[in-house]
Amino acid sequence: MSGVGATRASPGRGVTRKAGGAPPLDVERIRRDFPILSSTVRGKPLVYLDNAATSQKPRAVIDAISRFYAAENANIHRGVHYLSERATVAYDAVREQVARFLNAGSSREIIFTRGTTEAINLVAQSYGRSVLRPGDEVLITGMEHHSNIVPWQLLCEQTGAVLRAVPITDAGELDLDAFDRLLTGRTRLLAIVHLSNALGTINPVQQLVARARARGVPVLVDGAQSAPHLAVDVQALDCDFFAFSGHKLFGPTGIGVLYGRESLLERMPPWQGGGDMIASVTLEGSTWAPLPAKFEAGTPAIAQAIGLGQAISYLEAVGMDAIRIWESQLLAHATERVRDLPGVRLIGTARDKASVLSFVVDGVHPHDVGTILDDEGVAIRAGHHCAQPVMQRFGVPATARASFAFYNSFEEIEALVRGIERARQVFG
Ligand code: ALA
Repeated sequence: MSGVGATRASPGRGVTRKAGGAPPLDVERIRRDFPILSSTVRGKPLVYLDNAATSQKPRAVIDAISRFYAAENANIHRGVHYLSERATVAYDAVREQVARFLNAGSSREIIFTRGTTEAINLVAQSYGRSVLRPGDEVLITGMEHHSNIVPWQLLCEQTGAVLRAVPITDAGELDLDAFDRLLTGRTRLLAIVHLSNALGTINPVQQLVARARARGVPVLVDGAQSAPHLAVDVQALDCDFFAFSGHKLFGPTGIGVLYGRESLLERMPPWQGGGDMIASVTLEGSTWAPLPAKFEAGTPAIAQAIGLGQAISYLEAVGMDAIRIWESQLLAHATERVRDLPGVRLIGTARDKASVLSFVVDGVHPHDVGTILDDEGVAIRAGHHCAQPVMQRFGVPATARASFAFYNSFEEIEALVRGIERARQVFG
């Protein structure tokens, strides 16, 4: 892999060093690994601040996918021929790599899915459907993405269980007293977001998992936003399930991961039937393959898994700790700059945050903010961010959201600020 920014390198043109602190990454060098970051949009250099929606891909990921299709393409776990054996080895190696990345106890605990959404639906339909009875409760929070709300609503309709949600404070933190009241003898599952895509809040997941597990309640952690920004250790978190998506982690779309505690996965029934997930099939009935194949029916996303493996290698070479430090500096600086603009209100001011800056501008619809920024080459997201209950909680129809990755620079934050100022001039 070429050009991964070394922590000891001096800052380049694209990097502004904060007074007194050495930057942990050579951002300019890192940016050269991401072809799209040197492009222009609407005649302006691209400033990509929509990383919570999807992140950009390093050349190593793009090349690995292209190489697979050009030279190695075959189906896995089926053929006896050379290419199939190679593809199988490559696919299975990524599972081992993901297990190490999450510090899972075993690669049998790593299930490939299409993404976080499918991983959560898998748990709802396999674990939830086999365990929940009428009157049981599933506990979520008021800051969940729709993908950690709707699967539980469907499950509750199917089983007669009840969905409860922990409210959030004005700062966008969980109300922990309410959490303790809502976690009861009726709770059968806690499903909680690690890092909120709409607010940027980092939830005290380890503490909440401990409280839930003390009551025998299994916990699913939605790690779609946390896995790309925080070092994740599922054994330290002690969660039962952890889900993330490849495309937010600088890898391809169409691939994601469900980590599941082996003892639970063993007891769970398959949720989709088809090839590769069986031990034997007769016309009278079937038996299931051992983990993890039991949960991977059909031909999986092979090229995407290989791309995900490259993305993880890239991230590990940069270093999750260095990424965390750099992104914290970016977020702190962006928060200061944007908060001080007249007429701007931040939505989500939790003490512990990462990567996401949501805001509204007085008298300017977030979509108009997004359009003016787009005109300047700055890509942000404007809308409800698939978290409508968060918008309802803060009494806004939508927010504008800048979301950062380790390849963003302080100069790009200035482009964001200029765009917001221009939006106020045009619409304010
Ligand atoms: N969940 C993604 C976002 O927050 C799509 O934008």
